[in-house]
Amino acid sequence: MKYTAKNYEKLIGMEGFSETLLKNHFTLYQGYVTNTNKSLDSLETALKEGKTATAEYAELKRRLGWEFNGMRLHEYYFENLGGKTGLDKTGRLAKKIADNFGTYENWEKDFKATGAMRGIGWAVLYEDLSSRKLINFWINEHDVSHPAGCNPLLIMDVFEHAFMIDYGLKRADYIEAFFKNIDWKVVEGRLK
Ligand SMILES: [Fe+2]
Repeated sequence: MKYTAKNYEKLIGMEGFSETLLKNHFTLYQGYVTNTNKSLDSLETALKEGKTATAEYAELKRRLGWEFNGMRLHEYYFENLGGKTGLDKTGRLAKKIADNFGTYENWEKDFKATGAMRGIGWAVLYEDLSSRKLINFWINEHDVSHPAGCNPLLIMDVFEHAFMIDYGLKRADYIEAFFKNIDWKVVEGRLK
C-alpha cells in the first residue's frame, strides 16, 4: 500500500496566506509523501535481500521517521486550517482547555509563545491519553521528540517555509494569521 498525497487546494484564498506560499507548501508536503513511500520500499527490499546490517539500512530507518512525520504532520496542519468560526466556548475542547490552563487566553498565550520560540519546528497541542492532560509541546526536528502516547490536536508549522514567502522574518504576524484560520471543529473532533 502506497501513501497518496491529499489535496488541500480548498485552502487557497484563505486570509493571510498567499497562493504562492500555499502551493509551495503543498509541493513540499507531496515530497514527504513520495519519500515516505520510497523509504518504505527501499527498507522492504533491503529486508528481502538480507541487507539489514548495513549503513544504508540504518540511515533509511532513521530517515523514515523524518519523512513519515513530515507527511503526517503536514496533513494534520492543513486539515486544522480553513476554519471560519472560533472555538465553541461551550464545547468539550473549550472545557478541557479551561480545566488545564485556567482560561482559553492562558492556553493561547502559551501556544503562541511555543510557536514563537527561536528555531524551526512545530507547536503542537497534545492530549496525553494516559492522564487526559493537555500540553503544548515544542517539536523541533520532527523525527524526534514527539511525546509517546499522546494525541495531536492542533498543529502549527513554524518552519520558515510556512511563512517567509508572505511574512519574511515576522513570524508573530504569521501566527496571528494562522489563528484566524484554525478549523476548531476539526481540532475538537480529534479529542479522544
Ligand atoms: Fe511545512
